[in-house]
Amino acid sequence: MNAATREHWQGVHRSKAEDQVSWYRPRLDESLRLIAAHAFDRDGPVLDVGGGRSTLVDDLAAAGYRDLSVLDVSAEALQQSRSRLAAARGDSAAGAVHWIESDILGADLRQSHYALWHDRAVFHFLVDTSEQAAYVALAARSLRPGGVAIVATFAADGPERCSGMPVQRYDAPSLVARFGGAFEPLECTRELHATPTGATQAFTYVALRRLPSHIEPRAAHATP
Ligand SMILES: C[S@@+](CC[C@H](N)C(=O)[O-])C[C@H]1O[C@@H](n2cnc3c(N)ncnc32)[C@H](O)[C@@H]1O
Repeated sequence: MNAATREHWQGVHRSKAEDQVSWYRPRLDESLRLIAAHAFDRDGPVLDVGGGRSTLVDDLAAAGYRDLSVLDVSAEALQQSRSRLAAARGDSAAGAVHWIESDILGADLRQSHYALWHDRAVFHFLVDTSEQAAYVALAARSLRPGGVAIVATFAADGPERCSGMPVQRYDAPSLVARFGGAFEPLECTRELHATPTGATQAFTYVALRRLPSHIEPRAAHATP
């Protein structure tokens, strides 16, 4: 990501209230439903990629998830989220979250660490196939075997742009295919998101499980 893109996001988060942006939801209901269904280990490390100012971190903290990280290219977004969480749950709750200011493609993440990778409306900004591949490789490397990735993008019939920038749209099969052989699909859903101005945006959600890197071959002559 270049400096202009970073400035774009800093400008969005500085100039628009959180409920004035098209992707705003008071709660990320579909993400929370998929997390409750597929990623229920409250001790497992969670990474919200491009978490922005969403309230997912508040809801996961309230639900008892203890190891939360929010990554965003915008320091402004992270600061606003941190302040909101501190006001709602106290400084220690906000201080316990790992706030990571980084472009996801340049992020220095621990390998085989995360139990849950969540991304709503970030992966779809990667329109270059080499950047998509780099993102998927990073997710595969950073998740522990058996870990879960929940990724939401604009659907194939969703908008062509988000925050004024072009996006790659996906239906469920193409999003699952994009994540490739390191993941198996657990659940795919579609959401019709109502924007604050009353427009409707179709989203594709996929929940994927990180497969073990090496599947032990079955012995040809197993001893009973
Ligand atoms: C469309 S908003 C979605 C925010 C949040 N996930 C939600 O659902 O409300 C995209 C967010 O991703 C951040 N972002 C965009 N590109 C990014 C990148 N390459 N790496 C990290 N964060 C990025 C933006 O600053 C913004 O907060």
